[in-house]
Amino acid sequence: MSIQRTAVIGSGLMGAGIAEVLAKSGLDVIVREINEETSAAGRARIEKSLARAVDKGKLDAAARDEALGRLRFTTDINDLADRQLVIEAASENEDIKKSIFAELDKVVTDPEAILASNTSSMPIIRFAQSTSRPERVLGVHFFNPAPVQPLVEIVSSVLTAEDVRDTVTTFVADVLGKNPIQADDRPGFIVNALLIPYLLSAVRMLESGFATKEDIDAGMVGGCAHPMGPIKLADLVGLDTCLYAAQSMYEETGDPAAKPPILLSRMVDAGLLGVKSGRGFYEY
Ligand code: CAA
Repeated sequence: MSIQRTAVIGSGLMGAGIAEVLAKSGLDVIVREINEETSAAGRARIEKSLARAVDKGKLDAAARDEALGRLRFTTDINDLADRQLVIEAASENEDIKKSIFAELDKVVTDPEAILASNTSSMPIIRFAQSTSRPERVLGVHFFNPAPVQPLVEIVSSVLTAEDVRDTVTTFVADVLGKNPIQADDRPGFIVNALLIPYLLSAVRMLESGFATKEDIDAGMVGGCAHPMGPIKLADLVGLDTCLYAAQSMYEETGDPAAKPPILLSRMVDAGLLGVKSGRGFYEY
């Protein structure tokens, strides 16, 4: 199947980045948002990133305009009826995601269509089971910032059909130009199973007064050649996303390394979500 007609559910940090990647790859993209205000914010996010790509010499102005011309926003899920690939990138709430998959199942008419989730850590099988076509559901997990990070995790549930996994893997590599890797439907998949405990350890180090955030970050940048330290990275990922990923991993595995530190919960309670809210551990 040649995928041309795509959709993204949600245009927050990840949804906007994914929609941008699809549009830049020459695909027709519909972004589904909940209201006009969130649609305008999503569009602005994409426009800002495309402007940055032009400034950085990654894109010319004509390609930017073409990409913007391929993007449409809607608040009506029925507009997604003819889509061949839908990527859900709503907030990390299992009930919300399940109801989106149930709705997509009713609305998307093509029996060959593929329904994907960009969840960071939730079990794909639970979304698959909200549909009547679990074999056509899988995880397609991008990394933040999606237009820049080359990796995409392809997450097959125990029911994902092999041809669906293969179609999406080829699509991600050949059409989107990203590097796909295969992950099992296990908590945190590959990357977050390693990354989340690392970020939580850094927050615990800060919480215990062991070191300052600047020194923790400088340690990993200067000592291990990471592009950014773990406290800054947690701010970039979003402290809410870090918390939800940790909660979901901890709930399933009971691994103390995935237990969210109280400081992280309190930051999220306070609305200090990192880069996206203008303040997390640092100010932006
Ligand atoms: N579009 C296209 N390219 C862009 C761009 C845009 N909007 N913005 C920047 N770029 C390019 C730049 O041109 C540059 O490319 P070159 O290296 O080829 O020159 C590159 O991206 C880096 O950009 P900058 O130099 O402007 O920015 P920087 O050096 O400050 O890097 C960063 C910023 C890319 C965020 C870098 O710090 C980084 O990679 N940090 C780590 C990010 C990371 O680990 N992300 C994963 C988070 S985990 C996750 O997302 C999963 C989850 O489920 C929680």
